[in-house]
Amino acid sequence: MMQKLDDLFTQFQSELKDCKNKQEILNLKPKYLGKKGEISNILKSLKDATAEQRKEIGPKSNEVKQNIEQLCAKSLQNFEIEEINQKLAKNKIDITMTNSVKEMGLRSTGYHPVTLIQREVEDIFLSMGFEILDGPHIEDDYHNFEALNIPSDHPARDMQDTFWFKDSVHLLRTHTSTIQVRGMEMEGRKPPFKFVGPGKVFRCERTDASHEMVFHQIEGMMVGEDVSVSHLIYFMKTLLSQIFKKDVEVRLRPGFFPFVEPGFELDIKCLICGGKGCSVCKHTGWVELLPCGMVHPNVLKYGNIDTDKYNGFAFGLGLDRLVMMKYGIDDIRHLHGADLRFMTQFHSF
Ligand code: PHE
Repeated sequence: MMQKLDDLFTQFQSELKDCKNKQEILNLKPKYLGKKGEISNILKSLKDATAEQRKEIGPKSNEVKQNIEQLCAKSLQNFEIEEINQKLAKNKIDITMTNSVKEMGLRSTGYHPVTLIQREVEDIFLSMGFEILDGPHIEDDYHNFEALNIPSDHPARDMQDTFWFKDSVHLLRTHTSTIQVRGMEMEGRKPPFKFVGPGKVFRCERTDASHEMVFHQIEGMMVGEDVSVSHLIYFMKTLLSQIFKKDVEVRLRPGFFPFVEPGFELDIKCLICGGKGCSVCKHTGWVELLPCGMVHPNVLKYGNIDTDKYNGFAFGLGLDRLVMMKYGIDDIRHLHGADLRFMTQFHSF
């Protein structure tokens, strides 16, 4: 009988080893410990045993019972731990951002090319003694039109498609020329002065390769005694030569803007073909780059500047256009896309 119990335990151990999951253990347990299980069967046969034998077999069978109980519990626990570990491995969350970004194969792209060029232009103007000013995106009729010599009945208002607010007074600025007005308004502002003002501008336009509803300009204004067109040309040539890292040739053509008189379109000799003619310059040898002119006296008057004594120049440089020229990009919409293959070409920190 004692031997039988030992054999039973060995048999249990080998069967337990073969269990592949929790359920198999749960099925195995009653086979040994259940009312009709192996051990009960042995105990039932005790009635034929001697008192001596019973003394031995009683505690022995209890011991085997306990061992089986414990081994089952332990194996069940092992399977549970394994289950939890498997779940954890599946739902692994890496809370250390840099590691998980790396794991996902992502990387930082650096600054947007428009930001890079804006900073470059700002640095060049700072080195030439210009201030850098800012202005709001949401403007009013006065700063976007009225004070720039564009009265409400002026046909030039049709030149720019404006995003108006429902109150018909506020709008998203259509150009950074608003910063001319705000710059002159600043407390204590007296000529001579020169500043630039970069930022986003908004126009209600259909988008295509060269038009976006949101784009970037940097406005410039210089006011003093005897400011002339040659000052304007000097600063523009210096700026462009530094941006393109070579001497650029410029020319002025007449251009109309209500807030300048005379007004010009400044062209640069095509950097792609050197003036011979190509698709970028539409075979003219020249690329239109920035509108500018001498500040209209009415604009200075709105800014409380004595027009008998002072005059000035102003320009509005399109930053997106500049990026496109500098890097040979043929579609402005790339600049608003989130294509990493495009964005990572300009990275620098
Ligand atoms: N504000 C004009 C535009 O956005 C550009 C400009 C600025 C023209 C300054 C002349 C002088 O079209």
